[in-house]
Amino acid sequence: MYSVFIEHWPYDDPGQQEVVLSSKQDIKGIHISKTLGPQEYAELWDSIHVPNDLKESLLCQSLLNFTLRPKVSRTVIPLHGVILLVGEPGTGKTSLAKGLASKTAGLMHSKKLAYLEVEPHSLSGSALGKSQKAVTELFGQTIAEYAQGGPTFVLLDEVETLIVARSKLSLEANPIDVHRATDAALVQLDHLGDEYPNLLIVATSNFSQAIDSAFVSRSDAVVTVPLPDKAACKAILSDALTGLAKTFPKVRDLVSHRDLGDVAENCVGMDGRQIRKMIAVGCTFSRETAADPNKLTISDLRRAAEKSLKEKKRMAAA
Ligand SMILES: Nc1ncnc2c1ncn2[C@@H]1O[C@H](COP(=O)(O)OP(=O)(O)OP(=O)(O)O)[C@@H](O)[C@H]1O
Ligand SMILES: [Mg+2]
Repeated sequence: MYSVFIEHWPYDDPGQQEVVLSSKQDIKGIHISKTLGPQEYAELWDSIHVPNDLKESLLCQSLLNFTLRPKVSRTVIPLHGVILLVGEPGTGKTSLAKGLASKTAGLMHSKKLAYLEVEPHSLSGSALGKSQKAVTELFGQTIAEYAQGGPTFVLLDEVETLIVARSKLSLEANPIDVHRATDAALVQLDHLGDEYPNLLIVATSNFSQAIDSAFVSRSDAVVTVPLPDKAACKAILSDALTGLAKTFPKVRDLVSHRDLGDVAENCVGMDGRQIRKMIAVGCTFSRETAADPNKLTISDLRRAAEKSLKEKKRMAAA
């Protein structure tokens, strides 16, 4: 058993007692718990190049959660306080979710928000009924206690590992337990949706077919984060090169190179993670450049883009 102690929480409503929740022990299933301000993950938010309307609609969805849910009955609009971000691996979902938490904190009068990150892997157990119990405790007790204290933002990364599609369960490895854990999570989400309008859960997944459809149905918004288009590829390259140039100043010449657009064109089809890593790949074509990345050239980048894309296609075909 764990215990949560109420100490101090800076809450928007001056009529409310100011309390912050902290734990003397690690809380099962929670990887990070803290009070978040507007700056903490702002850089992550800015680092992700997606169409502007995607960021704006995420922000509006988050804002609406805290303005509408406390005031409008769920019989009128059945919001659950859940946003689901889906998309291929490496497209910036986790970064956007964290950034959204900071942006949301910036929208609060107090500029503070309770922030929790769930660690889904720690909830599964080999004993029958263990996962179900852990999931019930996490949602029904831990998250509920935080949400009672004031506005709370929960990041549920890789949600498909926790809320597994029941229709796709094979008869291997304790399927009854997994089935029950999914059932428990859904029941608890309904309860949280009913009782805690100050709570927003942002879930991410790069394997949306594996998420239970009842969870998708409970999501107030399902947002697909796309692979970067040519303009976004160029922005990611410029960003990463500018960052590298802080340590290796000659790299800055590549940011304004007239052929950078061609390299960006060769990056279309890659995800953002791959594009950033590709710059490191460009430094591996000679010992001289590996020893001193100031020597990185536009041809290295072109070659790296071709190599990375070829590798991606080969993996996809395998
Ligand atoms: N659209 C993008 N613009 C800029 N950088 C990006 C973009 N997409 C991904 N990245 C970079 O790729 C890395 C991985 O991002 P992140 O972990 O947020 O992706 P993810 O979608 O959560 O991946 P996964 O599905 O594998 O968990 C980060 O360094 C991030 O900055
Ligand atoms: Mg992620």
